[in-house]
Amino acid sequence: MTTCSVPLTPVPGPRGLPVLGNLPEFGRDPLAFLTRLRDEFGDAVRWSLGPRPSLFLSHPEHIAELLGARERAYDILDIGWAFKRVVGQSVIMSKGEDWRRKRSLVQPTVRPRQVRAYAATMVDCARSAADGWRDGDRVDVRHQMALITQRVVLRCLFGNDLGDRTRALADAMNVAEQVIGAELRGMSLFLPGWVTTPARQRLRAAVSTIDAEVHRLIRARLREGRPQGGGAEAGRDDLLSRLLAARDEQGRPLSPREVRDEAVTLWAAGHETTSTALTWTWHLLSASPSARDRLETELDRVLGGRPPTIDDHDRLTWTQQIVKEALRLYPPAWLLAGVAREGATLGGTRLPAGTVVWCSPWTTHRDPRWFPRSTEFRPERWDGDSPDPVPDHAWYPFGGGQRTCLGARFAQVEAVLVLATLAQRFRLDLPPTPVTPRAALLLQPSAPLLATVRATGR
Ligand code: HEM
Repeated sequence: MTTCSVPLTPVPGPRGLPVLGNLPEFGRDPLAFLTRLRDEFGDAVRWSLGPRPSLFLSHPEHIAELLGARERAYDILDIGWAFKRVVGQSVIMSKGEDWRRKRSLVQPTVRPRQVRAYAATMVDCARSAADGWRDGDRVDVRHQMALITQRVVLRCLFGNDLGDRTRALADAMNVAEQVIGAELRGMSLFLPGWVTTPARQRLRAAVSTIDAEVHRLIRARLREGRPQGGGAEAGRDDLLSRLLAARDEQGRPLSPREVRDEAVTLWAAGHETTSTALTWTWHLLSASPSARDRLETELDRVLGGRPPTIDDHDRLTWTQQIVKEALRLYPPAWLLAGVAREGATLGGTRLPAGTVVWCSPWTTHRDPRWFPRSTEFRPERWDGDSPDPVPDHAWYPFGGGQRTCLGARFAQVEAVLVLATLAQRFRLDLPPTPVTPRAALLLQPSAPLLATVRATGR
């Protein structure tokens, strides 16, 4: 547990409306609103989201303490019916003993040794996308990145068992993601689950498609016999086998329903987050010829024209720094929160139970106190010998503490290998116009990024 040495002295933020509080200003432009809280009021600001008392944190020490205590002293903020309908009762929605058990069963399936086994699939999926590109093509970057990460996660989860069902399953997840995003932005977030809307009907149909297929795959695997160890013994090396093989301390496996929930969560949590990070990376690279030149020089030097492997990952240091800097400027998960339980304290101050405590990687990552020239894309700030060390928890695109992202290593390896595979052969040139981020479930570009593909001739 982290207890910070910086005292918490919350100050009141901007006046809100009766009942709605600051919801209208937050809803209009959340990124500008939160930046204003930090710049005009300070490091710990009271505000209200509708009737809910809220506290917004900007100091990395407070953020570290919040993230470190979330499992023990905070409840999960309800982010709506649609999200729960998709992920079920998986690790991401669980608390306490139930969460501990699920986390301990899922974590081994995505630990670094397992991620090694998925690297070839990541490169393969990026190569087949690149094989379809021609010099001069116009492509929608976000769509292209989503196609790649969707294929990666589906193959890592289910091996090659999906066959011609891949498209239908990917389409169903896209519908689910759209409905979750729309629900979060609109008033339907506050509608109880029994209220039916056209969007919710679409979501139900999409979840039925996903459930039918995932349960079919689980049944087929169970007929083959549950593997007892890591999954590879049964000749399979995918996430589904690993989830089926997992045992808790009492030697109990996950039930088929639990396996479904964890598999779908890894898919939902792992696909659009990574494609969004890659999309912003291309946007930043297109506007930074020097960073792009250095990237291409590194790729030539390390790879010499061959596709990357997992062993190249650690040698691709500049590529890693580019991804890290893109995650700083455009963190896909831009807002994190916990609901204080009775007795929760922060910086030595007791918080009223029910307070929603927020922090935002978007505002912290752009705070000039921790990142000099904070709005500039400068991957060199991550050079080992940089004169400006970054304080702990000033960079936290994957959250932190016990509930830190389970797929952080998976996502970082995927982003680096996919970027390396594509940038080896192509540049994506984007018009030099500013792109406004839109804060939905994830931080997305507000308009399509239409790029011209340029072959590098390698
Ligand atoms: C760039 C890509 C990614 C980003 C930015 C990201 C970000 C995050 C963040 C910030 C959290 C913590 C949320 C919170 O504390 O409220 C989280 C949790 C989680 N992430 Fe990721 N993630 C990414 C990729 C992935 C991938 C690839 C997977 C799976 C393969 C994954 C699986 C999960 C799971 C299961 C949790 C819940 C952990 C728990 O509650 O114990 N994520 N992610």
